[in-house]
Amino acid sequence: MRVQMTVNGEARVCDVKGSESLLFALRDYLHLTGSKGACEQGECGSCSVLLDGELVCSCLVMAADAEGSEVVTIEGMGGPELHPVQKALVDSGAVQCGFCTPGFVVAAAALLEENPTPSSDEMREALAGNICRCTGYGAILRGLETLVGGR
Ligand code: FES
Ligand code: FES
Repeated sequence: MRVQMTVNGEARVCDVKGSESLLFALRDYLHLTGSKGACEQGECGSCSVLLDGELVCSCLVMAADAEGSEVVTIEGMGGPELHPVQKALVDSGAVQCGFCTPGFVVAAAALLEENPTPSSDEMREALAGNICRCTGYGAILRGLETLVGGR
């Protein structure tokens, strides 16, 4: 099945098989390997992308269902400069491994887009679907708090 999407601002087309996920299409057909498949069951958030502006686990979305949609992956965050979330995490020493970090960045960017001044509790709640196997949450939250004035 031919699927046409806008991915990170570019029109992309890929031929997918019926049950393949959006994550699979992004990684294996479009070679956007920033989104990671860790659990592939919607439990860890490492595959987080924006689908028509909504934060989703791309492992749970069928690629065919993304037809005509706008997808933003970690590769589409920022531009010549780091996205503010990426910079905050780098500056706070919160960038640990490549498995969880892309998902945290996408999820945090989605949160700040919706709520530019989240409280610490709101941040924790928004990132509850993202799992770091190393329990590195403290540095991530401290980094994000620098973006909202340490509330
Ligand atoms: S790989 Fe999608 S939630 Fe874990
Ligand atoms: S730093 Fe990525 S899983 Fe812990």
